[in-house]
Amino acid sequence: MAVEIAQSPSSVGLSKIAVSATHGEDSPYFAGWKAYDENPYDESSNPSGVIQMGLAENQVSFDLVEEYLEKHSEDSNRGSSTRFRENALFQDYHGLLSFRKAMASFMEQIRGRRAKFDPQRIVLTAGATAANELLTFILADPGDALLVPTPYYPGFDRDLRWRTGVNIVPIHCDSSNNFQITPQALEAAYSEAEVKNMKVRGVLITNPSNPLGATIQRVVLQQILDFVIKKNIHLVSDEIYSGSAFSSSKFISIAEILEDRKYKDSERVHIVYSLSKDLGLPGFRVGTIYSYNDKVVTTARRMSSFTLISSQTQHLLASMLSNKEFTEKYIKTNRERLRKRYDMIIEGLKSTGIECLKGNAGLFCWMNLSPFLDTPTKEGELALWNSMVHEVKLNISPGSSCHCSEPGWFRVCFANMSEQTLEVAMKRIHDFVEQRERSS
Ligand SMILES: Cc1ncc(COP(=O)(O)O)c(C=O)c1O
Repeated sequence: MAVEIAQSPSSVGLSKIAVSATHGEDSPYFAGWKAYDENPYDESSNPSGVIQMGLAENQVSFDLVEEYLEKHSEDSNRGSSTRFRENALFQDYHGLLSFRKAMASFMEQIRGRRAKFDPQRIVLTAGATAANELLTFILADPGDALLVPTPYYPGFDRDLRWRTGVNIVPIHCDSSNNFQITPQALEAAYSEAEVKNMKVRGVLITNPSNPLGATIQRVVLQQILDFVIKKNIHLVSDEIYSGSAFSSSKFISIAEILEDRKYKDSERVHIVYSLSKDLGLPGFRVGTIYSYNDKVVTTARRMSSFTLISSQTQHLLASMLSNKEFTEKYIKTNRERLRKRYDMIIEGLKSTGIECLKGNAGLFCWMNLSPFLDTPTKEGELALWNSMVHEVKLNISPGSSCHCSEPGWFRVCFANMSEQTLEVAMKRIHDFVEQRERSS
């Protein structure tokens, strides 16, 4: 039983970071997770519980990883068998070369080998969360700004801002051009930072985008790269969903653009990747920074001491990702399964009269519920979200938690549950719409 320790009101002080609210955990994005945790849906034991559609987790291809592990049990048993000492002894911050080679090759494979990755430039981190924070520490000082296109992943408020003291200035995107980033929007964000007396140190994009579930077009990537060159600032491309693009020809990595330009101006570009989404392994905590800047690579490696990946995990994944038979089958099958899920949810919503942004990647769709808002405001959106969580019992993420400037958009995850549960969720949305129509 937990021992209760009384906390006096005049308790001993803590650091500014500890008491700051910039971690963003008070947003509905996290509140929705709490509602799910308190009353989680289960087909047999709690069929009226909350269905978690606010978690970008990929469970559709676990069977393939499990099949691999069963066939190669020698890999997963390393910690307890003769390799114990190898795993237990000191690991320096370079990580295992065999794993860095396997990661580099996997990143090339996902990009159809249209871009090359040098294992010497791979810096290992405990997930993309650590990679993004670490890069922010290296590229910017407290009070400086990073420009980030909206809507963006709510975790960025924590990862880029909280401990670094760096500001996020939004690059506002909206539905008038399918939320694409434009040179005008980039300039407007830059000017906004200047007006606020903030030094802009870089632009951070997510490609494919979370929460849009769409890839960024080649021409847009070129415009963004031209913009950061013109302003002499950095570009971070978080490509955590690169292997989850359903149509491989439509995902273009910033690495390909650099390769086309013969790596000119590449020292300002840094790619973030992780195995949390494409391989569905968020619990393993495996991420990487790939930087084209030697100084950033060296500094990031030093800083990665705070956030290393265990040797046991590196050994296991080095073997798994070096097995081409496994990776080829996995990447192909996982894409097909995500596509099927995506089609299923889009069709289901369409038959209910709900439209989504046209997507081609990720573990979610970007749903437009603006016709159902009582008032076209953030308050209206949060009132609808409240009914969704507490009455319809679906935890979806409101656009405002992603800093979307247009009310009524919601992110809906579809890969963290079974097809049966997804069908139950669709039925709940269908009933909700019907009831709304009857009462209007
Ligand atoms: C765009 C983006 N970046 C980073 C992360 C964090 O990933 P990780 O689990 O590897 O820390 C997420 C997780 O949802 C994400 O969507």
